[in-house]
Amino acid sequence: MIQRQKGCNDIFGREAKVWKYIDHVIDDLMIRYNYNYIRTPIFEATELFHRGVGETTDIVKKESYDFEDKGGRNITLRPEGTAGVVRAFIENKMYGDPNQPVKVYYNGTMYRYERPQAGRDRELTQFGMEILGSDDPLSDAEIISAAVTLYQELGLKEIKVNLNSLGDNESREAYRNALIDYFKPHIKDLCEDCQERLEKNPLRILDCKVDQENDLLKKAPKTLDYLNEESRDRFEKVQEFLDTMQIEYTIDPNIVRGLDYYNHTVFEIEAKVEGFGSNNVLGGGGRYNGLVNQLDGPETPCVGFATGIGRLAMAIELEKVKLPLIESIDLFLLYVNEDEKKYAAYLAQELRKYGFIVETEYTGRGLKAQFKQADRLNAKFTCVLNSEDLDNNEVKIKNNQTKEEEIISLDVLAYYLSENIMDEEGGCQCGDDCHCEETCDCGCQEGKECTCGDDCHCGENCDCGCQEGKECTCGDDCHCGENCDCGCQEGKECTCGDDCHCGESCHCHDK
Ligand code: HAM
Repeated sequence: MIQRQKGCNDIFGREAKVWKYIDHVIDDLMIRYNYNYIRTPIFEATELFHRGVGETTDIVKKESYDFEDKGGRNITLRPEGTAGVVRAFIENKMYGDPNQPVKVYYNGTMYRYERPQAGRDRELTQFGMEILGSDDPLSDAEIISAAVTLYQELGLKEIKVNLNSLGDNESREAYRNALIDYFKPHIKDLCEDCQERLEKNPLRILDCKVDQENDLLKKAPKTLDYLNEESRDRFEKVQEFLDTMQIEYTIDPNIVRGLDYYNHTVFEIEAKVEGFGSNNVLGGGGRYNGLVNQLDGPETPCVGFATGIGRLAMAIELEKVKLPLIESIDLFLLYVNEDEKKYAAYLAQELRKYGFIVETEYTGRGLKAQFKQADRLNAKFTCVLNSEDLDNNEVKIKNNQTKEEEIISLDVLAYYLSENIMDEEGGCQCGDDCHCEETCDCGCQEGKECTCGDDCHCGENCDCGCQEGKECTCGDDCHCGENCDCGCQEGKECTCGDDCHCGESCHCHDK
């Protein structure tokens, strides 16, 4: 049997639902912070990462997936997203866009040849966001606030922002010299790699995985003591903005980050979740003002952040966050003979177009086993399609919770489902006990202000059409809400000519 590669994962079942939910929250958050999605290639020229991330970093030196392609080019699977975004920024001349700064986010797989363990994979998925073209401390604070908000909206209660500054080039140089002076007399106490790092890149000694517990590292000089006045002022401004935004943080002078491109602000965010273990850093980032220029672009100050989706999913599950995952279907269509099966195919197609989650039988099971399957799928309703009923344009529908059965006209099936599923669900399904009713993936939460100006309680995405307490505007005193040109009129005959009550071309009962 061929097995998956070490450090790679198959994400399926509940875990896949959690991942998709995280993606959804990310997309929603990024809209609100006004970041545009960017998709860059998974492989790039090896040189990009050597020059961008740094020759002496572990990521490049030890963990890089390098290969030569059939054309003899040196290729590397991206270990992180920032270098690729910067390459795209330069190559596509985004710096010339009048709309500055450029704010982008990505969500994709990265590759690091690490020793696999919980929360440390060889194929990992990262969500990251970058602001290119702003040196304003407000942009550092915005990146941190967006990261914190993401974790909070995903239900993580105890998160900790650890903040530090590496300062500008002058401060970094002063710090580098201090590190060399400090480590030189103790060079023999360092691992072989660190001995090499001492002259080339002493900062990398501080995040050495081998020497991590060495007391020498713990007592090493701290970056903050080597910041010049300008860098100190800048760091204070970042903190002021975080205070204004009510984002809590702790100054941690030990944070230097494992990539070479950083200057000024650096930060890591941890989650305090029982059982999360030592890899409790959910994400990290910082400012990288020199990278665009280093990769042959114009001087462009940038700041960014990335988080591992795998670690995030693990934290959410360990915290037992109640997520609004779809774990039921609206309707299961059961049948016995071929004619009924055809009708099941037709009905499933029609109802899915209306927005219902519909399932039917594909494996030739008998009726009893089909009922069992409907239960396994948590079907809210079941319909046994029986030829005799169908000839009469009728269908028997059963509410799986109350076990009540009704025979209804096929013409009103969609209407029946929308009415009864609403009743069943009693409104919000998002687990936040809000009143948004219709499409509860909108992230609306009770107590939040409605933004649609209609004084309803549906929360954020007020394009849902709900208007609490509002009169119908079609003049017919119906309760269909917004789209009152649809012709549906409660208690009245449908005007679409199909003798139904929902009106075929109306969307007011769509989910
Ligand atoms: P990083 O700290 O190397 O930063 O990675 C960010 C996050 O990716 C980590 O905090 C972790 O959640 C996740 N991660 C990293 N390696 C692994 C792994 N082997 N397995 C699972 N998850 C992992 C960066 O990559 C920078 N590009 C962040 C950044 C963006 N800085 C500025 N802009």
